[in-house]
Amino acid sequence: MHSKVLHEMVFQRKYLLPLLHYETYFINDPYDVAIYTLCKHKLYMDKSFKASAERIFDRILKDIKPSPAEVQDTTYRANSLMDIMGKIVPKDVELRIVGSISRGTNLKGDADIDIFMLFSKAYKKDRLVKLGLEYGKKAARLAKGTCEIKYAEHPYIRLYLKSAGLKADIVPASKIAEIGEMATTVDRTPFHTEFINSNLSDRQRDEVRVLKYFLKVHHIYGAEVKTGGFSGYLCELLIHQYGSLAKLLESASSFKQPLILDPLFKKEITDGERQKKFASNFVVVDPVDANRNVAAGVSTESLTRFMIISRQFVSKPSISLFYREKFASPQAHQLLSKFIKESGLETFIITATVPEKSEDVIFPQLRKVAGNIGDHLRKKGFDIYFNLPFVRGKSGIILLMAPRQRLTSRVLKGPSVFVADASRHFAMGHQKALGFFVSESAIHALEKAKHPTIVSALEDLPANMRFHKDINLRKSKVIHNRIPKEMEFDAYCELLKKITI
Ligand code: UTP
Ligand code: MN
Repeated sequence: MHSKVLHEMVFQRKYLLPLLHYETYFINDPYDVAIYTLCKHKLYMDKSFKASAERIFDRILKDIKPSPAEVQDTTYRANSLMDIMGKIVPKDVELRIVGSISRGTNLKGDADIDIFMLFSKAYKKDRLVKLGLEYGKKAARLAKGTCEIKYAEHPYIRLYLKSAGLKADIVPASKIAEIGEMATTVDRTPFHTEFINSNLSDRQRDEVRVLKYFLKVHHIYGAEVKTGGFSGYLCELLIHQYGSLAKLLESASSFKQPLILDPLFKKEITDGERQKKFASNFVVVDPVDANRNVAAGVSTESLTRFMIISRQFVSKPSISLFYREKFASPQAHQLLSKFIKESGLETFIITATVPEKSEDVIFPQLRKVAGNIGDHLRKKGFDIYFNLPFVRGKSGIILLMAPRQRLTSRVLKGPSVFVADASRHFAMGHQKALGFFVSESAIHALEKAKHPTIVSALEDLPANMRFHKDINLRKSKVIHNRIPKEMEFDAYCELLKKITI
């Protein structure tokens, strides 16, 4: 029987038959398993939940959906920029507006215009990247704006027109007829716009907006390394897959791993093959390119945070989950110091000087250094609760929070006793130890602590930890239990991304 027919039939009879019944009928055919899954969502969706969720979404849309006047305005600006670009690029380069503006999924006041320059295949990658930067810079000059170089798979220009409050990404890509011809990873983008525009209803686009806003409020929107969150395109695909935001949130509250979604067929893949192929527990196969996992940038922390907020919303739909006013609070410093006082945590700040490069380049390096320092302190026997790296102008700041600790000795974990040579070498290498003991079949040494406090350990960091690519900590002094005024707000925001206080 044709799947579509089945699909409708199932919905008509959904209250008459037990769920098990569908399972016995449809489980054999992979496409029908998808239908079964859909039925399950439908069946379990509590009608009153859907209604109250949608009431909340409608209310939020009033705040976050661009008004018709704003849409008109953005379109006008985008077109003017396209006119300028048209005068710059040669005839064989096609200009196209892509991204959320072209799909009706952008948020209010977020005039982020994505313009692609599609070069013909005669241009090799190096050349189109070089020309792309040149044309982008020229556009910034002609539009009397400023620009910076941003880095994705390849560099591109971000143009700012401060007077108009406008930001535009001008990205070079090659123009391809089908995905197999892909020369740079951004070549997929025009296909994304095509897919979304032919598959999402207006209501679904609005719900993408609500989803983006929800994720933004909880600091898990955006695929940049810094956030490790959900990209705009991923939000669009999730709404497409689950049909509505209410269903997505309901499903997310009980996500299991591995979770492998195939939005092209709106089905969940359970064969384990894709999980291996993408080496990930959370895969959303790009409907325009089966070799791409659109969820590759989502960290486990972001995914699980999404599950928590979904669960909160499903168990008690409330508008308050969409507004966390405290975040931009002018009383940030008071709230921060209140938290520090109540938790009794000590704070440690180390500041690196960093060159004036894009945050996309600096932040991952700083996070690496912060991670290394955290590991180092743990090895020295200290417990670190929060490790918060952030970039502020020319400084890379690492804020550590830890309970009060003063060590006289520390435990050093050695190798398994079953590996005879290794454990013998370990014992020989630590002859000054106070003693040895075994825990879970590994040998451990108890040593006198060289550093009694975190401050002294930080002041004595090994040279290789004080210097990493662009991060230079050599002149850094540790600031203990004091957060300088100018860092308070950023520190508070970083803390809030980690913990709800
Ligand atoms: P954006 O990051 O601007 O996202 O990338 P967006 O969908 O427009 O969402 P917002 O509203 O600005 O936050 C534009 C498009 O470029 C493609 C996607 O198709 C995306 O929608 N893209 C972007 C990728 O394919 N890969 C990336 O890493 C980034
Ligand atoms: Mn965009």
